[in-house]
Amino acid sequence: MEQYIIRGGNPLVGEVEISGAKNAALGILAAAIMTDDTVLIENLPDVRDINVLLEAMESIGVKVERITKHAVLMNSKNVGDLCVDYEYIKKIRASYYLIGALLGKYKKAVVPLPGGCNIGSRPIDLHIKGFKALGAKVTIRNGFIIAEADQLKGSHIYLDTVSVGATINIMMAAAMAEGRTIIENCAREPHVVDVANFLNSMGANVKGAGTDVIRIRGVQSLHKTEYSIIPDQIEAGTFMFAAAATKGDVMVKHVIPKHLEATTAKLLEIGCEVEEFDDAVRVVASKRLRSTNVKTLPYPGYPTDMQPQIGVTLALASGTSIVTESIFENRFKYMDELTRMGADVRVEGNTAIISGVEKLSGARVSAPDLRAGAALVIAGLAAEGETIVDDIIYIQRGYEDFEEKLRSLGAEIERATCERDAQKFRLKHG
Ligand code: EPZ
Repeated sequence: MEQYIIRGGNPLVGEVEISGAKNAALGILAAAIMTDDTVLIENLPDVRDINVLLEAMESIGVKVERITKHAVLMNSKNVGDLCVDYEYIKKIRASYYLIGALLGKYKKAVVPLPGGCNIGSRPIDLHIKGFKALGAKVTIRNGFIIAEADQLKGSHIYLDTVSVGATINIMMAAAMAEGRTIIENCAREPHVVDVANFLNSMGANVKGAGTDVIRIRGVQSLHKTEYSIIPDQIEAGTFMFAAAATKGDVMVKHVIPKHLEATTAKLLEIGCEVEEFDDAVRVVASKRLRSTNVKTLPYPGYPTDMQPQIGVTLALASGTSIVTESIFENRFKYMDELTRMGADVRVEGNTAIISGVEKLSGARVSAPDLRAGAALVIAGLAAEGETIVDDIIYIQRGYEDFEEKLRSLGAEIERATCERDAQKFRLKHG
């Protein structure tokens, strides 16, 4: 298995360019199926989740032409088989967006039921509630979700829990249902808004995305479009915390500062300087950071996908911090790894009590999931000595050219596949 080998201690300094938002792109790629015209999608991140979803779509007949590393032309007029293979959904849960898109366009979808993952059980009951409210018959058989309807009719749907996936999936199915749909208690994340804007660019009628009530008037068909994905606010925030944890000075470019407000607020609270520009933010941390408390919430609250990154940063802050994870039930697994690096942390249920230490020491650790893996890299960059992060395949799911971007900021990090690679790294870095 591939790993990162890191020699910590260098402050990160310089500029880094943020890629397109993975979680917007996953919904938008699925939604592109809903027209028989050709669609151009740009600013796609070149990450594993995107590439796997494109393969899944090709497997059901979508014509995908990669015109550059970050742009694809797609045409779905020959989609025949409405059944997505289990292999794909095992790799990425977000294949379930194909249910909403296929149901909306063809009034039928057969997609394997996604499993849980490392951060929690990840139910999709709210997705199914929405599809049923629109008139679909939804059954689960042999591990597949079969959703079908003679026709979909608009409905008034209330989401019991704020859910990004359910909001996006229901929005897609409703976009081609007859009549009006109102979805209440919606997720307001920037990637929900991006999918709504994409649907509207194809002729859909979706209003209110970004608020907690989305109103949709169904249309008969959708047409071609050219669309560019928004920047990834989670990748941006990850680099912002990498600057903070290593006492660096980093200009994070190609971002939408408004999407980063909760992250910026916390960085200011713990003693960083943060300067905002039109499409960039600069993070400077010159002295030891202060403790703070943080609770993850749906947008615009502090993002759960930024919880591990602030967790590892607070492990080095002066004072005691409390981190509360209110979205997922198992998102503190990285704390055991951090303890092996010398952190002083106690996890009680969905709360972590972190007593900051002066230094972390490098160790061999394992990435438990995508964001925690990135956070452990941050810990290794800030620690003294050598850190090896195993199972980096998780990190590659959502971070494009991660080690290259970090190296461009002065980090001593390389990908290793064997002990010989590690020895070469040690010879090079002393
Ligand atoms: C999306 O997951 C993101 N993934 C996650 O990012 C992110 O952590 C999450 O939203 C929250 O922001 C993608 O966009 C591909 P939810 P999603 O439905 O849609 C409960 C990453 O690192 N719930 O908003 O699956 C659920 O258990 C990933 O990029 C139900 O109860 O998250 C959770 O407690 C990790 N029933 C809460 O809602 C449902 O039907 C929020 O989950 C659906 C969700």
